[in-house]
Amino acid sequence: MTIVGGSAHFPSWRGVLEEYREFLPVTASTPVITLLEGGTPLVPAPRLSERVGARVLLKVEGANPTGSFKDRGMTVAISKAAEEGARAVVCASTGNTSASAAAFARRAGLTCAVLIPEGHIALGKLAQALIHGARVLQLRGNFDQALTIVRQLSERAPVTVVNSVNPFRIEGQKSAAFETVDVLGDAPDALCIPVGNAGNITAYWKGYLEFKEAGRSTRLPRMLGFQAAGAAPIVVGHPVEHPDTVATAIRIGNPASWYGATSAASESGGGISAVSDEEILDAYRFLASEEAVFCEPASAASVAGLLKLGLPDGLGGSATIVCVLTGHGLKDPDIAISQISVPTVVDAELQAVLAELAL
Ligand code: F0G
Repeated sequence: MTIVGGSAHFPSWRGVLEEYREFLPVTASTPVITLLEGGTPLVPAPRLSERVGARVLLKVEGANPTGSFKDRGMTVAISKAAEEGARAVVCASTGNTSASAAAFARRAGLTCAVLIPEGHIALGKLAQALIHGARVLQLRGNFDQALTIVRQLSERAPVTVVNSVNPFRIEGQKSAAFETVDVLGDAPDALCIPVGNAGNITAYWKGYLEFKEAGRSTRLPRMLGFQAAGAAPIVVGHPVEHPDTVATAIRIGNPASWYGATSAASESGGGISAVSDEEILDAYRFLASEEAVFCEPASAASVAGLLKLGLPDGLGGSATIVCVLTGHGLKDPDIAISQISVPTVVDAELQAVLAELAL
């Protein structure tokens, strides 16, 4: 089947699997299950650049088909599951993985079951999993407990786990690193990224290493990962039993790819640090009001971290820094509305509107 696509950045974009086939574990017989994910914009952030004192760009992953970076990994994980003859896929999720798994599973005609922590998943994400027909179970527990059960489930039932413990997820997600190199002409000097289960920072680092190895870039970025202070196991150095943060997407106390994150940070001369909920929400509002980019709270952790740390040591005004904005702001309308004042109600009369707007 010929895929005809397109994105603002790459006119005839064919999706992650076709664009980066030579770097992915697929063969000519692998079915291509795609929603034309990837090819997301790298948007200049002039106000943020001014504050930081270097060129800062935003990798807007909310522009993916289900509104988060998860689609990059899911196209590969679901294509491989289909190739291997799987009938059902399962995942634990703080929301975005479940939304993406539900959509790609539908596309492939597979059954999808998801386990989410009751009461701690953003409304938009829950809506997505449900509308795409996934079997959604709300667990009386947190993400870490859900992931443990999912892993046990895969030993008892004929299901494929599509969390990032599935290596095909990491393979697909490294495409975001490839894209930053393809657009910038080389790797950035630093990459700022939120860290939850730590699959994405692992994937970006793998992508940068592979592109350098292949001669597609000449350098490697410093990897700067950021956890929410109430859910910062890697920063404190031990699992957190009761993680808590407003950024529900990264409300994780025992990341599966812990070692991947610490390797990326240490091998690249970067680090993993914590940002408070207040810092996350400040960055979240700043991005929306100053850069006109609406991301979800977890995504804003990358920018909160950059604003907190400032220009990394050794980098000057000519440095290029990429902040990954992992998911769309519309995913979590409740938080957005809690951050602004409730709109004024007026009578349905021109005079009343004029008086209130005072234009
Ligand atoms: N940002 C968003 C919006 C996320 O949904 C996630 C993870 C992360 C950042 C962290 O990425 O886990 O690779 O370190 N969400 C997962 C989920 C856990 O279930 O949707 P990570």
